[in-house]
Amino acid sequence: MFNLILFGPPGSGKGTQSEKIIEKFNLVHLSTGDLLRSQIAQQTPLGLEAKKLMDKGHLVPDEVVVGMISSALDANTSAKGFLFDGFPRTAAQALALDNLLELKQAPISVMLALDVSEEELVKRLIKRGETSGRTDDVNEEIIAARVLEYKTKTEAVADYYRQYNKVVIVAGEGSVNEIFERLGAEIESRL
Ligand code: AP5
Ligand code: MG
Repeated sequence: MFNLILFGPPGSGKGTQSEKIIEKFNLVHLSTGDLLRSQIAQQTPLGLEAKKLMDKGHLVPDEVVVGMISSALDANTSAKGFLFDGFPRTAAQALALDNLLELKQAPISVMLALDVSEEELVKRLIKRGETSGRTDDVNEEIIAARVLEYKTKTEAVADYYRQYNKVVIVAGEGSVNEIFERLGAEIESRL
């Protein structure tokens, strides 16, 4: 099994690059943001609760996303590997993920961390907000709240994996294909 975390701030290109990586390397894509938006679209109680936090740019509670990831791992027993996108986002989530993967004896191989300037992030998200319908892209205050959550809670996740020498920083600006080449080279060298 090959398990990988694609890490980076809001708008760094995790979703865009995940689509390409899972196709090339035959991995299962697990995006907690996508799973939460699907719960919102189905108007489940979990989705309706999560929406209140997501619309403010705040993280949803750890137990909610860990529960979703645990179910998704159980639902994909024949996967060759998983690409985690937008998860883990707190140190507690990272510990929970390690425990879940330990049961499968399939630890995280690498965390690829996309490096993008704050100016570029805001530019990308404002632009997407014009057409995406994502309520958390609509104005700069919500985007700033998402970036603040990233800095105060999520950056620590990179420190967690750094202690195991699993973090590789990848330049996240340039064309989508250029960035994909960089990520692909890091993955290939570890397969
Ligand atoms: P989530 O859905 O994970 O969103 P995010 O990480 O805040 O960021 P995005 O998905 O917007 O960015 P991305 O890095 O995927 O970039 P993308 O490829 O889309 O989370 C949403 C919310 O859900 C959170 O705020 C939180 O409330 C909750 N949540 C989710 N997971 C959670 C967790 N684990 N714990 C707690 N709460 C959680 O690209 C962005 C834009 O840039 C696109 O328009 C794209 O076309 C464009 N773009 C991509 N690459 C390039 C490029 N190279 N050049 C120019 N433009 C580019
Ligand atoms: Mg995304």
